[in-house]
Amino acid sequence: MSSVEITILVEEYAGFTELLAEHGFSALVSLKYDDGTTYKLLLDVGRTDRVLLENAKALGVDLEDVEVVVLSHRHHDHTGGLPKLVDFLRGRPLIAHPAITRPCFDVSRGFTRFDVGLPLGTKRALNEFEVIMVKRPFELAPSAFFLGEIERFYDNSYAVKNFRTVVNEEIVEEPMHDDSGLALKVGNRVVVLAGCSHSGISNIVRQAKRVTGADKAIVVGGLHLITADENALRDVVDQMLNEGVEEVYVGHCTGLKGEAKLVEKLGNKMHKIHTGYKVEIK
Ligand SMILES: [Fe+2]
Ligand SMILES: [Fe+2]
Repeated sequence: MSSVEITILVEEYAGFTELLAEHGFSALVSLKYDDGTTYKLLLDVGRTDRVLLENAKALGVDLEDVEVVVLSHRHHDHTGGLPKLVDFLRGRPLIAHPAITRPCFDVSRGFTRFDVGLPLGTKRALNEFEVIMVKRPFELAPSAFFLGEIERFYDNSYAVKNFRTVVNEEIVEEPMHDDSGLALKVGNRVVVLAGCSHSGISNIVRQAKRVTGADKAIVVGGLHLITADENALRDVVDQMLNEGVEEVYVGHCTGLKGEAKLVEKLGNKMHKIHTGYKVEIK
């Protein structure tokens, strides 16, 4: 692959643009190859369709050019925009881990349980796509992989706090095995695109390196450090650096303290993303 361009369509922050922002994530990925071909895919679809569709229009993005949709995990802030996308992408492949259909209750507010998994409209909209649910890493295009289920080599408990699901009629802890990402290899580096990083960003980077054979990494997306305490934050950032992360482009659920720690360790190699932000790696 000769280059990767990532355009942030949905994010919490609009920067100094006139675009919209919401709690959620969606990124358009454009893969360019030496023979001049281009392949476009969409990682996640935001919380509502309003922000995704309006920002795509304002940025001149033609959603009909998207060849495959990937869901990083089931949370509604990443999957809620799917019903309206049917108008543009009916019948296209949609890739995700099979656990995305399970409920996910957020119990952070005590016993008030609220399913933050796939919204009802999104469950219905899945029927309009060619759904491919896989646990193993899967090559979507040359040098571009869906990472499948992420091996939890490093502790990721900071990123799955307060999630529960139902198994055999019991409420049990929910490990978010559906949380995955994309690995896009350019030269000896891998661009790791993560939605929420519930599997632990250091684990996702480790798996992306293993799948692609790259030894350096660039991370783009949400790192879910917002729920990490001081110790977890220090450990995760150290693990990322030890895994060869050279540069990061982050936002969404990374959190202010996570962003501050990354600035401390990476200086001007840490970038805060916003809607309309473009990252190009050659
Ligand atoms: Fe999220
Ligand atoms: Fe999430």
